[in-house]
Amino acid sequence: MDHGPQPPALLAQELTFAYPESLRPALEEVSFALPAGQFTAMLGGNGSGKSTLARILAGLQGPYQGRLEVLGRDLADPASPAALRGRVGLAFQSPDTQMVATTAEREIAFGPENLGLPPPDIRARVDELLARFGLKPYARRSPHLLSGGEKQRLALASVLAMRPEILILDEVTSLLDPLGRREVMEMISGLRGSVTLILITQFSAEALAADRALLFDRGRLVEDEAPEALFRRARGREIHGVEVPLAFRLLRAAQGSLPQE
Ligand SMILES: Nc1ncnc2c1ncn2[C@@H]1O[C@H](COP(=O)(O)OP(=O)(O)OP(=O)(O)O)[C@@H](O)[C@H]1O
Ligand SMILES: [Mg+2]
Repeated sequence: MDHGPQPPALLAQELTFAYPESLRPALEEVSFALPAGQFTAMLGGNGSGKSTLARILAGLQGPYQGRLEVLGRDLADPASPAALRGRVGLAFQSPDTQMVATTAEREIAFGPENLGLPPPDIRARVDELLARFGLKPYARRSPHLLSGGEKQRLALASVLAMRPEILILDEVTSLLDPLGRREVMEMISGLRGSVTLILITQFSAEALAADRALLFDRGRLVEDEAPEALFRRARGREIHGVEVPLAFRLLRAAQGSLPQE
C-alpha cells in the first residue's frame, strides 16, 4: 500500500523567537525541513541561536512565532508535548545541569522509567549503554563525581536510553579529549539512518560526517547545503564565524598556487 510521501521529521516555517527583554530576536525567520533519518549539522558562531533552536525543537522553550512541526505534529498544539514524550532527545553542552539521579545507572534508567517501560527492559538498556559508553566502572557513582568527559558520555547514554526518533546533540563533544571525541563521533555516525540526527558543533570537521549543514549567523539561517560543498566554497579562514576545516584551506591554498590558465 502506498502511504504517499512521509512528512519531514522536523519542519520550521518562518520561526522567530526572542527572549524577554532582549533587543533582537535570538532566531529570525528560520525555515527548513529535515527528512526522517537525515543527519544534519548545525553550525554558527557563539550566540548565533543554535542552542535556542535546540531547546525550542525539544519543546523546552517558547513561545515562538511561525510554525513548527515535529514528527508530523504542530508543536503549538497543546496535545503535542504528551504525544511527543520521549520521541525527541536533547543532550546539551553543560551535562551538570541535566543530571537528576544519585548514580550513573539510575541516571540512564530515569528516562525509560518515566516512559513506564518494564524493569527488565530498562535493566537491559542500562547495561548495554553503560558498556557502550565505557561507564561500567562508574555505574554506582554519583554523576557529580564524574569528570567532564565522563559526564558528557553519561548524558549521551541517558538520552539514547529513551530511543528517541529525533536526537539533538548540542556540543556534546566539547569536553572530551581527542580519543573520547573520536569514540563519541564514531558512536554518533553509527546511529546514521536509524534516527533523525542534529549535531550542533563548534568543530567544523565533525560537521563533515553529516549529510547536510545548516549555518546560522545572528539568528538567521544563512547556509543550507552539504558540508563539503559549503567548505569548498569558503574563501577565507572562516565562514560566518565558523572555522573552515584545515583540509579545505590547504586544498584552496594549493589550488591558488597553481598557474592560472
Ligand atoms: N536564557 C536566555 N535569556 C536571554 N538571552 C539568551 C538566553 N539564552 C541565550 N540568549 C541569547 O540568545 C542568543 C542566542 O544564544 P544561543 O545560546 O542560542 O547561541 P548559540 O549559537 O548556542 O551559541 P554558543 O555557540 O555560544 O553555544 C544570544 O544572543 C544569547 O545571548
Ligand atoms: Mg549553544
